[in-house]
Amino acid sequence: MKQIAVFASGTGTNAEKMIEHFSGNLSARVALIVCNKAGAGVLEIAKKWGIEAILVEKLGFFGPKSCILPLKQRNIDFIVLAGFLWKIPAELVAAYPRKMVNIHPALLPKYGGKGMYGMKVHEAVIAAGEKESGISIHYVNEHYDEGDIIFQASCPVEPGNSPSDLAAKIHVLEHTHFAKVVEWLLS
Ligand code: GRF
Repeated sequence: MKQIAVFASGTGTNAEKMIEHFSGNLSARVALIVCNKAGAGVLEIAKKWGIEAILVEKLGFFGPKSCILPLKQRNIDFIVLAGFLWKIPAELVAAYPRKMVNIHPALLPKYGGKGMYGMKVHEAVIAAGEKESGISIHYVNEHYDEGDIIFQASCPVEPGNSPSDLAAKIHVLEHTHFAKVVEWLLS
């Protein structure tokens, strides 16, 4: 049974979809939630599903050992970033080569990089007059949003769409595809 860790800092709707998707699966399960924000919704989700959650502090996360040890102690095989806002330390990337993926709410390589998260992404897409946006699932490397792209799905940006309209469409795409793509990568 493969052990998945989901890193999330926010509401955690993608984390919950991931937990749900693997809950009846015999080959993989979400075994751990890693969060960097006390009070984040994802911690409640972990509690609800009876999944262990650890809250990481900057010093521990970016320190000499980063959070590799707690992951290895729990036999974590694969890491899923679902709205985790800190950059992943190089040692952690090296400890999980091609075993760590992120989801980004736009069609990379556009609208990615430092500072491009949450509503800022959707605002930029709309301001640029893009006719479509979407999701990108990609491997994680040492640079924000630059690892190899594994999967993309798109949706139209319609005239009059607000950033929150677009965010809602993108959430639907994320919830539809993310867990399936992770399952495929693990198989
Ligand atoms: C998602 O839109 C994801 O693309 C981004 O962070 C958001 C997390 O949303 N990286 P949620 O907390 O899973 O609802």
